[in-house]
Amino acid sequence: KASLAAQKRGWHLYLVGGAVRDLLLADKAAGNLMIKDIDLVVDGFHKSADVGAGVELAKALQQIYPAARLEIHGAFQTAALLWHKDPEFDSLWVDIATARTEFYPYPAANPEVEASSIRQDLYRRDFTINAMALRLTSPRAGELLDFFGGLLDLQAKQIRVLHANSFIEDPTRIYRGVRFAVRFGFEIEPQTKEYIRYAINSGVYDRTTQENSRTPALQTRLKAELKHILEALYWKSALQLLDDLGALQCIHPTLKLDRELLWQLRLLERCLQRFDQQQTLVHWQIRLEALIAHLAPEYRAKVAQNLQLPEDSIARLKNLAQSFSQVIESLPNCQRPSQVVQLLRQFNLPMLILIAMHSPLCLTTNGCASTLRRQIWHYLTIWANVQPILNGNDLKKLGYKPGPQYRQILDDLLTATLDGLIG
Ligand code: CTP
Repeated sequence: KASLAAQKRGWHLYLVGGAVRDLLLADKAAGNLMIKDIDLVVDGFHKSADVGAGVELAKALQQIYPAARLEIHGAFQTAALLWHKDPEFDSLWVDIATARTEFYPYPAANPEVEASSIRQDLYRRDFTINAMALRLTSPRAGELLDFFGGLLDLQAKQIRVLHANSFIEDPTRIYRGVRFAVRFGFEIEPQTKEYIRYAINSGVYDRTTQENSRTPALQTRLKAELKHILEALYWKSALQLLDDLGALQCIHPTLKLDRELLWQLRLLERCLQRFDQQQTLVHWQIRLEALIAHLAPEYRAKVAQNLQLPEDSIARLKNLAQSFSQVIESLPNCQRPSQVVQLLRQFNLPMLILIAMHSPLCLTTNGCASTLRRQIWHYLTIWANVQPILNGNDLKKLGYKPGPQYRQILDDLLTATLDGLIG
C-alpha cells in the first residue's frame, strides 16, 4: 500500500538500512526474521517530491491505517508511523524520510538523477551493510541497490565504514560498529579499525564527554547505543572490543576495562542473578552504573549526568564514595547480625551491589573488603528477609493498644530474632 501511494504521486519508495541487511542475512541463514523497525525513503522523479514527500506519504498511509499513530519530526521533515500491539502488525515502527541529498533542487524526471539522490542518501550512512536499498515501487520493484559493496561485506562478514570521516562526524558509530560486529559474529575490517583508532586518537571523545548542554543529541545517541549493548546477551564481548579499540574513552577518557573492572562486573552479574530474579532493576542501567563507578569519585556524577541517567542513578553514583566509607568504617563495630542489618538497611539493592563491587579486588589480602562483601551477601540472602515472630495483628490480639510503641516492639522482636535470642 505504501508503494502504491508513492507510485500514485510519481515517487520511488525504498526500504533502506537495517531491515534490508536483516532480510539478506535471514535469507542466507534461513532463520527467523522479526523486523520491528522499518526505514523507508521516498525519492522523486520531479521537483514536487521535495523535502515534504516523506511526511506527505506518511499522512496518506495513516488515512489507510487509522490504527497507526503518526509522528512528524519537523527539523528533518521525517515522519514515523507506529503500531503498538496492533492485531495486524503487533508492534511496528515505520520511519519515512525523503531521500537526502546535498544538491537540491535537481533536474526533473531524470532516472540517473533519481538514482544519484538515493545513492547520496545511502552514502551518508554508517556501514556498507546498512547502506543498501530495496526498491519497492515499479518499474524494477524488488531490485537491490547496493552501490558500496554491502552484499559482499555481508558475505565476507565484515563491518566496513563508508568514508574516512564517519567516526569523527559521529563517534557513536564506533559503538554501532562494535555492536553489529559482536551481534552478527563479524569482523571490523582493518581499514575501518584504523579510522576508529584515528578518531579516538584525535580526541573525538571530547565531544561525547563534554557537558550535556553542549552536545545533548550526541550524548542521547551514545546512551541509546550503550543501552543496546548493555542489554544484549553479548554485552561482555562488546565491552571487550570497545576497550580494545580505546572507545570506552567516549564514556570517560580514563575508563579502561582492567582486571578489577572485569572482576567487579562478574560480581555484579552474580548479584543480579541471585537477588533480582524478577528483574525489578534495569539491568543495562546498573551495568552502566558499574562502569561509571569504576571512575574516580569526582567524575562519576558528571558522567552520569552527561549520559542523562535517571536522578536516582546520578544520586547513587554521587553518594557511592561516602556510603562505601560509612559501611567500611562501621562494619567492624557491628558485633551482632542486628547491627549489620541496622547499618545496611538504609541502602537499596543497587546501592548495596555497588558498595560490594566497590571493595578492593585484593580481597584475599584485604580482610576488611572480603568481610564487607560477605556481610552484604549474608544480609541480602538471609538477614534482610527475617521477620519478627509477631506482627501488628498479633500485638493487638495480645491486648497492646495500637500506637507508636508498636514499631519499637516489632523492632525489638526483630533484633532478638536476628541475634538468635528467640525464634
Ligand atoms: N544510521 C547511520 N548512522 C547512525 C545511525 C543510523 O548511518 N549513527 C543509518 C544506518 O543506515 C542504519 C539506519 O540509519 O541502518 C537505521 O538506524 P537504526 O534503526 O538505529 O539501526 P539499524 O541499522 O536498523 O539496526 P538495528 O537492527 O540495531 O535497529
